Amino acid sequence: MRKKIVAGNWKMNNDREEAFKLTSEVTHMVEDEVKGNTEVVIIPPFVHISSTRKLVEGIAHLHLGAQNCHEEKGGAYTGEISAGMLQSVGCKYVIVGHSERREFFGEDHEVLSKKVDAVLASDMIPIFCCGEKLDSREDGTQNEVVAQQVEKSLFHLSETQIPAVVIAYEPVWAIGTGKTASAEQAQEMHAFIRKLIAEKYNQDTADKVSILYGGSVKPGNAGELFAQEDIDGGLIGGASLKSRDFTDIIKAI
Ligand code: PGA
Repeated sequence: MRKKIVAGNWKMNNDREEAFKLTSEVTHMVEDEVKGNTEVVIIPPFVHISSTRKLVEGIAHLHLGAQNCHEEKGGAYTGEISAGMLQSVGCKYVIVGHSERREFFGEDHEVLSKKVDAVLASDMIPIFCCGEKLDSREDGTQNEVVAQQVEKSLFHLSETQIPAVVIAYEPVWAIGTGKTASAEQAQEMHAFIRKLIAEKYNQDTADKVSILYGGSVKPGNAGELFAQEDIDGGLIGGASLKSRDFTDIIKAI
C-alpha cells in the first residue's frame, strides 16, 4: 500500500516564535489523530529545523523535511547546506526541484538529478517537484514538459531506488495563485506520471511511488483531490502556515 503524505512547505516564512507555535499545534493534532500509513511532514526553513525537531521527535507519523540541499557532500560552498547535514539534524525528507528553485535559482534537470542522488545517498527521501507553467497548459504541452522533468532528473535511478522517491506534481500556474488544478486535471497528470514510471520500470514499481499534488491546496479542496486514485497526498504551501488550515487538510486524508 502506498504511503499517504501531507507535507507543509513553509518556504521563507515564520520567525522562531511563530515556528514554535505552529509546530506545537500541528504536533498535538498529529499525535491525537493521524493513524495508519499516513505521514505528516513539516518543512521549515533550515534555521528552524533543530528547534522544531525537539517538538516532533518521537511523535509517530510526524517527520521533518528541508526545502533544498546542495548536491555536493561538503566543501567551499559558502551559504549552502549538504544532504548529510540535514540528515544529521533529523530530516527525513528534502524537497528537490521546487518550481521556485527552478525559476529563481536556475536549477536545471542535471543539477536536480545530482540533488536527488545526494538525498538518497544520505538515506533521506527526495520530494521531487515537477509541473508545467501556464503557457504549456494553455498550448497543451503539459505532458511533454512533465515527462522531461521526470525522465531527466529521476530515470537514471535503479528499480530499487525509484520507490524511495516521492514525486510532487505542482502545476506552476496553481502555486500561490489560489487557482487549483481540478481534481480531474490533477488525477490525469498523476496517472500519466505513474504510467511513465511503469513504462520505464514496471507496474509494480510504479504502484509503490507516492505522488503528491501541490498548488493552492486548501481545506475546501483537499478532500476531493485526495480522493483521486493516483493522488497520494499533498505538498502544501500557504495553507501550511495556518495550523487550523493545515490540520484540516491532514484530516482530509
Ligand atoms: P501553495 O504552494 O500551496 O501556496 O500554492 C504549494 C507549493 O509551492 O509547494
